[in-house]
Amino acid sequence: MSTIKRDKGLDNTLKAMKEGYLYTTNQRKRLGAENIFETRGLGGKRILVLSGKKAAETFYDNDRIERSGTLPKRIVNTLFGKGAIHTTTGKKHIDRKALFMSLMTEGNLKYLRELTRNHWYMNTHRMEQMGRVNIYRESIVLLTKVGTKWAGVQAPESKIEEIATDMDIMIDSFKGLGSKFKGYRESVKARHRVEDWLEDQIIQTRKGKIHPPEGTALYEFAHWEDYKGNPMDSRLCAIDLMNTFRPLIAINRFVSFGLHAMNEHPISREKINNEEDYAYMFSQEVRRFYPFVPFLPGKAKTDFNFDGHDIDKDTFLLLDVYGTMHRDDVFENANEFRPERFIDWDGSPFDLIPQGGGDYYTNHRCAGEWMTIIIMEETMKYFAGKVSYDVPEQDLSIDLNSIPGYIKSGFIIENVRENIDRK
Ligand code: HEM
Repeated sequence: MSTIKRDKGLDNTLKAMKEGYLYTTNQRKRLGAENIFETRGLGGKRILVLSGKKAAETFYDNDRIERSGTLPKRIVNTLFGKGAIHTTTGKKHIDRKALFMSLMTEGNLKYLRELTRNHWYMNTHRMEQMGRVNIYRESIVLLTKVGTKWAGVQAPESKIEEIATDMDIMIDSFKGLGSKFKGYRESVKARHRVEDWLEDQIIQTRKGKIHPPEGTALYEFAHWEDYKGNPMDSRLCAIDLMNTFRPLIAINRFVSFGLHAMNEHPISREKINNEEDYAYMFSQEVRRFYPFVPFLPGKAKTDFNFDGHDIDKDTFLLLDVYGTMHRDDVFENANEFRPERFIDWDGSPFDLIPQGGGDYYTNHRCAGEWMTIIIMEETMKYFAGKVSYDVPEQDLSIDLNSIPGYIKSGFIIENVRENIDRK
């Protein structure tokens, strides 16, 4: 048995934040560590970083890994909400996860596809009038409309901008993890505002004062009972209801990355328009290639062996999400943007893990992954085929040393015009 290579230093948090998405890959290469290395962070805590496909498989083995209690408190307070599904474990998690997954019916997913397609189409005139359009901002507002409508939540047009901004503030709260976060108070305030607004709708639905359609998230969450026959506390219900559409709004990041990729690889626009399934493969590659979730936390539930190394119970672990998807032994020429790689992809739950891996029902894998792919497909088809636009001079760089990942300019387009065949 070999010893685990170590990134020396009493606390490497700052170093990790400086290197951002590249920290894990840089260290693995520097240390000559294939699938595991040790570091210290978050106040000197010993952390083992697990990377690669085998690592993902291990990480999603519920007998060996515990996830609850490992998310930073700050992230729970801002991004997910206290008591959110992400923080649950065992029977409670499986019970509540089934509620989320029960929303993923064929009808609900088809409706989401139509909503996305129609909203972009209806937004064309607005973008034509706008001159310059910042896609990051434009899509966050549009997705707020799609998400709230899909979830059956009442969101008046006059409130959309405000909700979109509050969501953006919350989503951004994983900025500067491990160090002091300047936006923390703002983030907590934004969360309270949105929780109040949603809790009120849960209460009104339960009292029969408003009538969201059956099958919508609002209806199903308000009427759900856990395995003991108890309804969810109304605040908690609002928190998890938000977890059905706040992350949907975060797809705005993938949307701007998608347009960035189309700009870098103009041929992809033609392929999206002309080749069946290309929009799907393109969307998968955007999710794999561009920086979003860097790593995920967990801890050893028991003593176990990984890749020839003994790991003791309670050891804090990080699954290297971004690094795993950029390893050449996981995806060939991983640092190239190549949607065609998904032509013969075997659909493994342990390599394409931008939204977590493993099983949807029993692991913490993202409940909204199918929704994300659908929204991306429809959005990419719209921008490839339904409109033309120019991309003015701007800073299109993406700093991989900074988490979360952004296109510096947000991705700006101008001179948007509808593609109409008038022949
Ligand atoms: C969980 C990412 C979109 C709902 C997760 C996890 C990640 C993630 C990394 C945690 C996986 C783990 O801990 O193992 C993303 C990204 C998205 C996205 C990058 C797109 C921008 C969505 C959407 C929904 C959603 C559209 C709508 C339903 C959830 C829920 C969980 C989750 C409810 C918790 C699952 C659980 O704890 O079992 N997501 N997600 N996400 N996501 Fe997403």
